[in-house]
Amino acid sequence: MHESHIDSSLPKPRLYEELRRELEALIRGEPDWIANLANAAALLYHSLPDVNWAGFYLLQGDVLVVGPFQGKPACVRIPLGRGVCGAAAARGETILVPNVHEFADHIACDSASNSEIVVPMFKDRALLGVLDIDSPAFSRFDADDKAGLEGFVAVLTATN
Ligand code: SME
Repeated sequence: MHESHIDSSLPKPRLYEELRRELEALIRGEPDWIANLANAAALLYHSLPDVNWAGFYLLQGDVLVVGPFQGKPACVRIPLGRGVCGAAAARGETILVPNVHEFADHIACDSASNSEIVVPMFKDRALLGVLDIDSPAFSRFDADDKAGLEGFVAVLTATN
């Protein structure tokens, strides 16, 4: 088993630097996209403080289908444009939701979730899906998380 030694209490920019390095080590030489997404979800879930769900929705046609994740069982299919995941995918940009109860179209999968970040994943301009991370804390995600997770996703999509 691969042992990660990431200090979750590092300042966010340093933490994301470590996470990118760890991800690169985990996926080096491994061409299987699903295997890499699975390890990426586990790495995020176990290294980021205050998260209760971390994982991927993958685009199939015009629907996002749940992929590798850590956390409680989630809704399986999200049409493009629906929920936070579908909105981020349709807009092609990261969405930060400080309070999911105030996001009109939020799809509640785990009642413990209070804030959320969704980062779309692209390969050669084609949408592959989204990275979705939920937190029980309000306003858990900020510009540092956005920058860090967009960099994280860029490492990942390079292997697709
Ligand atoms: N909250 C998401 C649904 C997915 S779960 O949080 C895992 C949304 O509204 O897109």
